[in-house]
Amino acid sequence: MTKRKLLVTSALPYANGSIHIGHLVEYIQTDIWARFQKLIGNDCVYICADDTHGTPIMLNAQKQGKTPEEFIKMFHEEHQDDFKRFHVKFDYFGSTNSDENRILSENIYKSAKAAGAIYEKEIEQLYDDKKGMFLPDRFVQGTCPKCDAKEQYGDSCEVCSATYSPMDLKEPKSVVSGEVPVKKKSSHHFFKLSQFEDTVKDWLSKNVVRPEVRNKLNEWFETGLRDWDISRDEPYFGFKIPGTTDKYFYVWLDAPVGYIACTQNWAKDKSVTHDDIWKGDDWEIHHFIGKDILYFHTLFWPAMLSVGGYKQPEKVNIHGFLTVNGEKMSKSRGTFILAKDFGEKVNPEFLRYFYAAKLNGGLDDLDLNLDDFLVKINSDVLGKFINIGSRLGSILHKKLDGQLSSLSEDGEALLTEIRAKADDIKTAYETLDFNKAMRLIMGCADLANKYIDAKAPWAMVKVDPDAAKQVCTDGLNAFRLLAIYLQPVLPEISEKIKEYLCSPDFTWESINDTLSYQSVNPYEHLAGRLQKEDLDTIVQS
Ligand code: 2FM
Ligand code: ZN
Repeated sequence: MTKRKLLVTSALPYANGSIHIGHLVEYIQTDIWARFQKLIGNDCVYICADDTHGTPIMLNAQKQGKTPEEFIKMFHEEHQDDFKRFHVKFDYFGSTNSDENRILSENIYKSAKAAGAIYEKEIEQLYDDKKGMFLPDRFVQGTCPKCDAKEQYGDSCEVCSATYSPMDLKEPKSVVSGEVPVKKKSSHHFFKLSQFEDTVKDWLSKNVVRPEVRNKLNEWFETGLRDWDISRDEPYFGFKIPGTTDKYFYVWLDAPVGYIACTQNWAKDKSVTHDDIWKGDDWEIHHFIGKDILYFHTLFWPAMLSVGGYKQPEKVNIHGFLTVNGEKMSKSRGTFILAKDFGEKVNPEFLRYFYAAKLNGGLDDLDLNLDDFLVKINSDVLGKFINIGSRLGSILHKKLDGQLSSLSEDGEALLTEIRAKADDIKTAYETLDFNKAMRLIMGCADLANKYIDAKAPWAMVKVDPDAAKQVCTDGLNAFRLLAIYLQPVLPEISEKIKEYLCSPDFTWESINDTLSYQSVNPYEHLAGRLQKEDLDTIVQS
């Protein structure tokens, strides 16, 4: 098999708040895919960074009496702790506020300018005179011009769903100072998106997104691509636009460039460069994003890449949102759950398994119903999977001498059946149909449990210890295969099983190996059953 070279990214989280379990859908999905690619022997680099620029970060830093740099550093540390807790293992986790990113962003801008794709135009916006700043849409509140609902944001109404310009709001107020904003003109830099329509269409025709996404994009093409305002006036926390004294790149210009900058930083001590990856033919680039940021990744981003002389991503994988108990996460219902709070109460690998069992690569929202979660984890992870190791491990150590013998004939047949599922499981992982992968693996676990139940080694050990030992050997070999199949989803449990079984190799290729005539370590508790009380405390807190 030729090794593929894969650069994998998740969307860059804003350095403006804590990671919650909704964010984790994407990081866990991407991490599973990246770990799977490594497991099957591909070269895979998973990178990410904090998205650090923009007005909200600037204002929140001010509110906390911090510089933006101090503020983003605080979240940089917190985010990394959260990711680590959930075993989201980046090869590099950086920041968009880096020199590398500034230079790459400036270069893309300069190339766009040289290609005639940038123009300046004066626009009128709402301005907060007291605070001395232009107000982004979300920083203006007022009465909806369509339905008269009060306290609506400047871009859309939550009551009647109308979208409008903040200038149309009745009785507008600045969220920053409470003052009535005034209208003010300023010159902005625009990126001519329409110039890249053919390039983007061409790229999209190569199966980079799922058909349902393609249809959505076609609608956008039909309504026509609008040029993109890539500048913001000061005060702004971001990169200054070359050749200007008071204009900054809009955060969404430099954020995706962060993917390249992080590649550059990762590559510093490697034999490959970011240009090899982003310009050469050897590497495939795979983005993972949520459906809310589709426009940026499938229209603006390919246009920027094209004008900057970069190649196009191989795939943009898009997932839906998380609901908790069937509803949008909500602070008032207590279902707005931070990663940290969840991870302190519940084994983080359980959430990984649950998300895997729910994800199929499509755009549908995914529901974390906490009752289903409890049942699913206790029945699949504990009842079907871990149970195999704990039952056989205790017989082998308590009733026998802790040594494996050889496989029985029936055991060989069981392992052959489990190995025969490897290709289907592999395809399911590859195509992001983790739901199918989990079903196939649990099907294998059912086979193993049925086998063990039928042989009843706990009874057999009293009359025929050698035969019982063979059943333990059969079952623990099956356990090993399941642990390898589940490694992308349950990396820590899988690692513990590797140590427990004294199995030197846990790669995908090694599923053809058999453990025999060797000792295994005494079985140690791998994970405890999930209790309803654990979940109750999460939702209340
Ligand atoms: O929507 C968001 O949370 C953005 N911070 C994602 C940025 S992804 C990339 F383009 F940088
Ligand atoms: Zn309205």
